Amino acid sequence: MFENWYLTELMNKNVRDIWPLTDNYLLKLIKDILDRTGMSEELKKPVSISYLIKKFNYSDKSYSALKWVLERLKFSNFMDSNEDSDEVKYFFTDKKITYNDVELYNYCTAQEPGSSHTFKMLKLMADNYEDFLKGNKTGVEIIFSPENIEIINEYYEKSLFYNANNILGAKVLNNEVDNRDNPHILELGGGMGGGTKQFISQRKDEGKSLTNFTYHFTDVANKMIRNTRKTIESLTGDISNFEFSKFDFNKPLTEVGVEENKYDIIWAVNAIHVAYDLKFTLSELYKVLKPNGVILISETVRPSEGPMIQHEFVINTLDDYWNVKLDDEWRPNYGFIKWKNWIKALEAAGFDIYTTEPNMNEVEKEFNNCYTTVIKGIKK
Ligand SMILES: C[S@@+](CC[C@H](N)C(=O)[O-])C[C@H]1O[C@@H](n2cnc3c(N)ncnc32)[C@H](O)[C@@H]1O
Repeated sequence: MFENWYLTELMNKNVRDIWPLTDNYLLKLIKDILDRTGMSEELKKPVSISYLIKKFNYSDKSYSALKWVLERLKFSNFMDSNEDSDEVKYFFTDKKITYNDVELYNYCTAQEPGSSHTFKMLKLMADNYEDFLKGNKTGVEIIFSPENIEIINEYYEKSLFYNANNILGAKVLNNEVDNRDNPHILELGGGMGGGTKQFISQRKDEGKSLTNFTYHFTDVANKMIRNTRKTIESLTGDISNFEFSKFDFNKPLTEVGVEENKYDIIWAVNAIHVAYDLKFTLSELYKVLKPNGVILISETVRPSEGPMIQHEFVINTLDDYWNVKLDDEWRPNYGFIKWKNWIKALEAAGFDIYTTEPNMNEVEKEFNNCYTTVIKGIKK
């Protein structure tokens, strides 16, 4: 039922036009990192990642992020690789990166001011990348540095691309709330409230009640819960139907202190992909749902056309990104997965009905960069 809206409004012309230009911007940032650090010189001939790490005295923890960066160049044919005695060696092709980052920024932000938040986030990471490679700063220290905290906050709340996850998730959630009688909602990994605020704003914009549901906002980080509580209070003026508490979705329910058969709706925006063991987490959440309860997982998913998502340049510096249990069926790779893998994960966790909103089979026929969806599982 959301297909038409998804294709025309959510994935609108600006999103479609600016995404590939943002890719070009990222490629230019990556080239600048390689030039600045001296890696470009080395990559004129085939070299392995281990060689680069040793030569430049980088942290071993940077291996996977560095691999992503080189693979990203390879995906656009700026880099090639060969395999020599079990080690992959990368080298530049003759194709040159000639994008102008300032021109790209100016052009895109003039078209759509919301695109600036993505550019700023990518630039923040690129400016600090050498420190990350050397182990002088962690990804968390870069992304959440107090002097740059506005960049990540605005990115999660207003970025042209990221905000699509919040808007879509909130729209599907609102539809569920409208079809139920005073539902009890649990939000997981609510963070700074990007999704929660969308949910409330959409209700306010449409003149819908803010009291015909009860809402349990959770995250693993207490500080975020405290901050978001204040934000929600100022937005609604009354939080008597809201509850705020800590919930770690990697832990068994018995430890988290939540009863079985308690919620009508569980939802999360871009959070559950960091669950250590996806099948375990989803199985626990299944127990928490009442019969006829629904889980709505709004997530960035790998598009059919370009599976390397810009946002990964930022988040693959985080330990959580790599600290997950892989599985051939439902989690074949680190980070974001394809919507079909999510469906398999819901099935493996025991959900009785599993689908997506919108129907991804339908929207992907029309547009090959559908990078967000809501994976929906129902408990009978
Ligand atoms: C990318 S942020 C998304 C925040 C918010 N949903 C939004 O879209 O603005 C992911 C959130 O998941 C939370 N998180 C990470 N691991 C978690 C865990 N094990 N249990 C619960 N929340 C977790 C983080 O603290 C963070 O707030």
